[in-house]
Amino acid sequence: MKFFAINGSPRKACNTAKLLDESLKGIKSILTKAEVKRIDLYDIPFNGCKSCFACKKINGHHYGKCVYNDEFKPILNEIVKADGIILGSPVYFSDVTGNMRCFLERFQFPFFAYSDVEEVEHKRMPIACIYTMNCSEELSGQIGYNKTFDNYEYGLEMVFTKPEHLYVYETYQFDDYSKYVCDAFDEKERRYIRDTQFPKDLESAFKLGQKIANRSIND
Ligand SMILES: Cc1cc2nc3c(=O)[nH]c(=O)nc-3n(C[C@H](O)[C@H](O)[C@H](O)COP(=O)(O)O)c2cc1C
Repeated sequence: MKFFAINGSPRKACNTAKLLDESLKGIKSILTKAEVKRIDLYDIPFNGCKSCFACKKINGHHYGKCVYNDEFKPILNEIVKADGIILGSPVYFSDVTGNMRCFLERFQFPFFAYSDVEEVEHKRMPIACIYTMNCSEELSGQIGYNKTFDNYEYGLEMVFTKPEHLYVYETYQFDDYSKYVCDAFDEKERRYIRDTQFPKDLESAFKLGQKIANRSIND
């Protein structure tokens, strides 16, 4: 069995990546022989959907497939065959990152039939979404981040399956807060959260991975 964690952060050793790695460990704890891989989207030169509609053309050679021939295509071809997927993105300006958005367009659109009767045959693997952010849970609720994320998850549910999710708040953003203009945040408080809450978030990510592994067997 094969599982992918899709890292939508440009940083390969920070909050989102750590949580994704932990979720993959969770998968391995259940399915010891499973192949797990993290894909760092910012390592791949790629764009979102180009609206060519080759994936929707009647009797088209590429019906239900993304025809866009770039470095991402072989990677996408592997991902759509996976037994489970964990997406992770930092929140950038109240949304997922640009590269995660590009990924979602390419991942979903070929399978999304503009039809009430036609369906595109494809794998409906279990999916989980991890979101990391500077905001507190309270502020995130006031701004309404969950509405944005619910919309993404609704799209994923229509095409694949209803995603599990994990929100991780008040992440530690800089290696050294003293080097940056960031008086809006109290470094001591952030460090406390990093040392007390983040380990719990990692545990939740591990359990999320276990859930995806179990769903891949039982659903
Ligand atoms: C360009 C940019 C925009 C951001 N916008 C937001 C935002 O709108 N809301 C928020 O809570 N955090 C925001 N953040 C903070 C990140 O979401 C947060 O630090 C995240 O945990 C970083 O993930 P990483 O450590 O995996 O890179 C932003 C960070 C950057 C670099």
